[in-house]
Amino acid sequence: MTKTGYSRQQLQQADTHHLHPFTDHKELRANGARMIVRGEGSYIYDTEGLELLDGMAGLWCVNVGYGRKELADAAAQQMEELPFYNSFFRCSTPAPVMLAAKLTEIAPDNMNQVFFGTSGSEANDTALRLVRHFWSLEGKPEKNMVIARTYGYHGSTIAGASLSGMPDMHNQLNGAVPNIVHVMPPYAFELAKAGESDHDFGLRAARAVEDAILAAGADKVAAFIGEPILGAGGVKIPPASYWPEIQRICAKYDVLLMLDEVITGYGRTGNWFAAQTFGIKADTITTAKALTSGYQPLSALLVGDRIANTLVEKGGEFFHGYTYSAHPVCCAVALKNLEIIEREGLIDRVREDTGPYLETVLKERIASHPLVGEVRSVGLMAAVELVSDKATRARYMPSGIAGSKVRDYAIANGLMVRAVGSSIIMAPPLTWDRATIDLAADRLSKALDSALAELQA
Ligand SMILES: Cc1ncc(COP(=O)(O)O)c(C=O)c1O
Repeated sequence: MTKTGYSRQQLQQADTHHLHPFTDHKELRANGARMIVRGEGSYIYDTEGLELLDGMAGLWCVNVGYGRKELADAAAQQMEELPFYNSFFRCSTPAPVMLAAKLTEIAPDNMNQVFFGTSGSEANDTALRLVRHFWSLEGKPEKNMVIARTYGYHGSTIAGASLSGMPDMHNQLNGAVPNIVHVMPPYAFELAKAGESDHDFGLRAARAVEDAILAAGADKVAAFIGEPILGAGGVKIPPASYWPEIQRICAKYDVLLMLDEVITGYGRTGNWFAAQTFGIKADTITTAKALTSGYQPLSALLVGDRIANTLVEKGGEFFHGYTYSAHPVCCAVALKNLEIIEREGLIDRVREDTGPYLETVLKERIASHPLVGEVRSVGLMAAVELVSDKATRARYMPSGIAGSKVRDYAIANGLMVRAVGSSIIMAPPLTWDRATIDLAADRLSKALDSALAELQA
């Protein structure tokens, strides 16, 4: 029995009425879902009392860890005072106003405006509308194409899925948002040529964007969109040469740079934003998830001065917004969450201590495993590539089998991780210390051993 009084069986029975996200429903109904009922610190617990170290911070979001009473109190206080009021019709409420001001303090210098939504997908819809509207206001409505990347993930609304570079999602769209093209991602492990340096590969991957601009004509291209590190596509970290070259190309052709920091925002890479970690100057930055550490659904699209000035000065009314834009409860929780991140020095710790420590542990303890072709990390965001042959980087077949086996053994050993194709990815709460990283590495090593034994049997 759970605290709510329901057994796993009762919950699984009721769950047959629930269409889960990104799920094969028939398969789920045959096997039933794991029911997570509680979280505390770095751990989650299921109905059967199984304790799992959460290597994914929920879904890349619970950066301050579970069980923070301060966040519950912030929500309760706001709910009692004013559970909801909108920000339409020349109205506003204090929490979003103060949050917007706070965000512009911690964001890169040119980011001085914020548009709120409830999810990363919504924020990217807003971003797409905004960049296209910007060019119309500038008298160039034909400049409306957006260049995105294969393996990019930007959400699941029609605009989000269209911007994403996931072939399976596109196949199901049966009609994507027009004028979005995808180019190769900076994924050296699979796409670098024999003998090509990381530096050269980074330049080549960036120049795929330039090729797409030249193919369409710069007067037709509104923006390039990318995650600083491709997250859901498998924590693919670009070579150091990539982002400066993207920046150069965008400037040369007057193409706006839309950065999607839904995963990397709020400390994950050791700075508030990965724009700061990689030195990227963007025109929009999409954020969500860890803005509230997942305690409430909230997104914030940071809008750079260039777009904002045109919108404000020439735009008139922008016919766009959601009922829950600037929801006071979500914003109150976000303010408290940012306060906790600052007070506990979590971002400095990731940059100076736990991030480098995770990298060392992965290199020293995981990379040498026979099943591992590469480890990579930035801050507390990591991937482990699984191969059948280290030299040739061949994969176990059928595709994804090694990933799902390692993930399942990791869970059985008490570590929640995610499999993306033939890789294992991790993005734990920023509260993890060195001992927790060691524990995760122990559990992951065991999972690799068990999976290897089974794959070789
Ligand atoms: C980079 C990125 N952008 C956008 C999204 C979509 O956010 P949401 O699921 O909140 O709509 C995600 C979700 O994982 C993401 O990783």
